[in-house]
Amino acid sequence: MMVSEAVIRMMNTEDIENVLVVEENSFTVPWSRTAFYNELTNNNFAHYLVMEVEGQLIGYCGVWIVMDEAHITNIAIHSLHRGKKFGEALLLHSMQLAKLYGCKKMTLEVRVSNQVAQNLYTKLGFMPGGIRKMYYTDNLEDALVMWVNLDEQG
Ligand SMILES: CC(C)(COP(=O)(O)OP(=O)(O)OC[C@H]1O[C@@H](n2cnc3c(N)ncnc32)[C@H](O)[C@@H]1OP(=O)(O)O)[C@@H](O)C(=O)NCCC(=O)NCCS
Repeated sequence: MMVSEAVIRMMNTEDIENVLVVEENSFTVPWSRTAFYNELTNNNFAHYLVMEVEGQLIGYCGVWIVMDEAHITNIAIHSLHRGKKFGEALLLHSMQLAKLYGCKKMTLEVRVSNQVAQNLYTKLGFMPGGIRKMYYTDNLEDALVMWVNLDEQG
């Protein structure tokens, strides 16, 4: 898929090194190489997308598809490339993928302090569902659970 000059495709194990650059740039507790490797090779529920601009990997998004429910595990765009609608395009693509797999709902957790990500999710139709107390182990921050009914999305 093309989004302006960006390409979105499925992640494979050869992408892990470049995904780790985005991961370490984006999260206080980045996932390890092993975590990504296990997701790609041992988890039949997991579907990971990467986004490339001019051949360079600039973002990724993971979704677990279990029966008719999709769960976003992570989404990140490298800080040098934020604010250009790449994250929005990547999440929309994940939503389309989930729909193709027959999912009716998509859900995710987001730090209560992460207003930027919450804005993106709200823009794409996600609604607040509840709070998971002390969900994040680094600072015991609460997670806001958000969800969207995929049937209502274009
Ligand atoms: C969240 C993230 C993926 C957004 O990606 P992005 O490509 O920068 O976002 P986009 O340019 O596609 O913006 C889409 C929408 O997100 C929101 N948004 C993006 N940047 C924002 C900012 N700086 N301030 C407020 N809202 C913002 C807006 O709603 C925006 O829509 P608009 O431009 O019409 O206002 C990116 O900021 C990121 O990687 N953050 C670090 C990792 C992270 O927090 N991931 C989410 C974990 S749950």
